[in-house]
Amino acid sequence: MVSYKDLGLVNSKELFAKAINGGYAIPAFNFNNMEQMQAIIQACVETKSPVILQVSSGARKYANQTLLRYMAQGAVQYAKELGVNIPIVLHLDHGDSFELCKSCIEYGFSSVMIDGSHLPYDENVALTKKVVDFAHQHDVTVEGELGVLAGVEDDVCAEEHTYTKPEEVEDFVKRTGVDSLAISIGTSHGAYKFKPGQNPQIRLDILREIEKRIPGFPIVLHGSSSVPQDIVAEINKYGGKLVDSIGIPEDQLREASKSAVCKINIDSDGRLAMTAAIRKVFVEKPEEFDPRKYLGPAREKLKELYKHKVVNVLGSNDQA
Ligand code: G3H
Ligand code: 13P
Ligand code: ZN
Repeated sequence: MVSYKDLGLVNSKELFAKAINGGYAIPAFNFNNMEQMQAIIQACVETKSPVILQVSSGARKYANQTLLRYMAQGAVQYAKELGVNIPIVLHLDHGDSFELCKSCIEYGFSSVMIDGSHLPYDENVALTKKVVDFAHQHDVTVEGELGVLAGVEDDVCAEEHTYTKPEEVEDFVKRTGVDSLAISIGTSHGAYKFKPGQNPQIRLDILREIEKRIPGFPIVLHGSSSVPQDIVAEINKYGGKLVDSIGIPEDQLREASKSAVCKINIDSDGRLAMTAAIRKVFVEKPEEFDPRKYLGPAREKLKELYKHKVVNVLGSNDQA
């Protein structure tokens, strides 16, 4: 067992309390490899933002759990070397079992999500509480979820949103002891969140209703990529084929982050930015075969994207 504290990481408790009071949200950026991690840390150091390094179970399988632990420890040292000691959380995204959450905690994660949102309510409560009881013994924070996002979550695919029921949140938070709650208000995972002609609108009215029931309690938004159309156009210009990809308008996320929403999850936008940069190099310089020559520009584009998110969407700059 390695404690996240020995790796120089922090849990999310204090960060969320400060974010709610300060009217901003902490970025939760997913990563799978070194370039993504470097871009996240560079962006958050340059903007002096706290950050949540987020790892899905798929990412954990892809990158290897031991390497991930040393990468997170390395990220803490890297930020210091770049000149700012920003708070860094290592968080499990969409944990689907007690065993996975326990294993991540034993490998140095400072925060875990147990996603029981697809289960019947009482089973979600029981599973979430079991994870909370274990995690809290190690001072690890836990995110639960109520309501189901449309789209693909790992292997589970929901056609329609099941919005979070405001009348359930108080009971869920009380019975489970979770530290934060992910809700479903119209965001969804991936690059196809709305169909052409649909109004890309999230249900801020449900968010307000939830906030009334659990005032000051940390709320999390998943599926919060905005699918920047200039990046989509660049991908398609250089041979990609993304048709009708639409995301959440950034001004709505900015609005949400001023409320009790204190963690906003962004993965797909980073994937798009990397893909655009790599495709550009492949088309413009077909003679290149040194991975640094395409992963380098991809890392640079990612960093610019993350800085933009921190400053213009989440408002977490200068809060480290
Ligand atoms: O919520 C999903 C995240 O974007 C992670 O995606 O399971 O493909 O790593 P993944
Ligand atoms: P996006 O697919 O919108 O980036 O959402 C990511 C996410 O919610 C990770 O848990
Ligand atoms: Zn998610």
